[in-house]
Amino acid sequence: TQARRKLVAGNWKMNGDMAALAELDAIAAAAALHPHVDVAICPPFTLIAPAAARTALPIGAQDCHARASGAHTGCVSAAMLVEAGARLAIVGHSERRADQHESDAEVRAKAEAVMAAGMIAILCVGETEAERDAGRAEDVVAAQLAGSVPPGAKADALVIAYEPVWAIGTGRTPTPGDVAAMHAGIRTRLRALLGPEADGVRILYGGSVKPANAAELLGLPDVDGALVGGASLKAADFVPIIAAA
Ligand code: G3P
Repeated sequence: TQARRKLVAGNWKMNGDMAALAELDAIAAAAALHPHVDVAICPPFTLIAPAAARTALPIGAQDCHARASGAHTGCVSAAMLVEAGARLAIVGHSERRADQHESDAEVRAKAEAVMAAGMIAILCVGETEAERDAGRAEDVVAAQLAGSVPPGAKADALVIAYEPVWAIGTGRTPTPGDVAAMHAGIRTRLRALLGPEADGVRILYGGSVKPANAAELLGLPDVDGALVGGASLKAADFVPIIAAA
């Protein structure tokens, strides 16, 4: 297997304001102390340009429309994100799959647009609690991967984030064994979809990653980093997670 650099990415969701960008300074300082770890922050659309102007940290978006332009009120294209300074974009987050009814096909189209614009796509998958209780977690994630990973995706442009829906914002996480099993399963599915390129694709874990559990989660096989929500808003929480990677 190829060596994969760890990636710790923060997803601010619908949080943050201009004042909150001050957190980026301490996060960037910590990132500089840990040069073997890639660190990125995905603030709301409105903060991408000022964040990118303020920091050398890679800044990302939380969504991206699949089309280049047109009559899509309220949406933002990949080229617009690049012009604003974004270098990554999250696609298919479970909150968008649920709230905006995004399908696997839509998520794939968004990932393709992100990659075509020269950005890295962080493509999210994950099962609900009911699906896990029914023993269907691996099948659900496999179907999401089959439907949303763009054929021919390159390892340097694609990151998968495994985020069990029931672990997001709840303080609950799967057992280390369950995380390791899911990540190994995702790697196997990626090999079937992408061939040897799959060995270079980073697979992040997301869902209630905190300073207290980061070292254990990030030390698991095939866990190549973390996608962090609540604990990415404050440098005091996020910096220890970077250090744990
Ligand atoms: O995308 C990251 C996110 O869904 C995890 O959120 O707050 O549980 O770390 P949180």
